[in-house]
Amino acid sequence: MIDQSDILAALRWHVDIGCDEAIGDEPLDWALLAARPAVARAPAGASALPPAAARPAPAPASRSAFGGPSGASMFGAPVTADLPLGASEAGASARARAAEARSLEELETALRAFDGCPLKATAMNTVFADGNPAADIMLIGEAPGEDEDRQGKPFVGVSGKLLDRMLAQVGLDRSTVYISNILPWRPPGNRSPTQAEIAACLPFLERHVELIGPKVLVPLGGTSAKTLLNRAEGITRLRGRWFDYASPGLPGPLPVIPMLHPAYLLRNPIAKREAWRDLLTLRQRFPG
Ligand code: URA
Repeated sequence: MIDQSDILAALRWHVDIGCDEAIGDEPLDWALLAARPAVARAPAGASALPPAAARPAPAPASRSAFGGPSGASMFGAPVTADLPLGASEAGASARARAAEARSLEELETALRAFDGCPLKATAMNTVFADGNPAADIMLIGEAPGEDEDRQGKPFVGVSGKLLDRMLAQVGLDRSTVYISNILPWRPPGNRSPTQAEIAACLPFLERHVELIGPKVLVPLGGTSAKTLLNRAEGITRLRGRWFDYASPGLPGPLPVIPMLHPAYLLRNPIAKREAWRDLLTLRQRFPG
């Protein structure tokens, strides 16, 4: 008899390590997996596993979120044929695919077909963009969170609601700005993106900026600012200052003004005064 508090503690532990989303249609019995080595040691004829009908079906031999570094899936089926690419191969493949895109539609199609970032396997949706593609102002966040992953749109959760209110204060909304993220797929449990994930996806964002051709870029938060500007300083040093962003497909350098991420402002409401100052600085130079 399992104690209900044990079940709750196990659930709590899963949430704490970032497993807060069901990504398969069928539940997996991890106790069976723990029992697997015993099968190898068991005498012929004896099996520590229940009959095949009671077991979950083996994972298909396609790229799997559960494929380990050894190249074996958790059921022992080799998945080496279709493992995620290494970071530099993934970046090169992304660059080639993104460069071929001649329109936003082509870019979105290429991104959805791209398998070089393992986050795609655990995300529910590819989050491409929202807002007006003809806008002068392009905002770039970090990565989708839970709500964005569910709805397939950037900044639709609580931090998105705050972002909408901030924009409204300076006469902007989603018909006058364009919004995307450094990563199009949610990192499990909203953990910070790794450098390998960023490197794999960045060529798509760079092409995205070229195709939109905004007049100004606004990175939201440290990950976005550091990635776009290729700088090491934190967001508190970068925010509110003007920088240049250059890309071969742009006619010239674009002005960039990093701002604090709305999720940070929710945790540190006192910092809203800095965000307000930065929005006014943006509107002074780009009154619309
Ligand atoms: N945070 C981000 O950086 N981007 C989103 O789309 C949502 C939350």
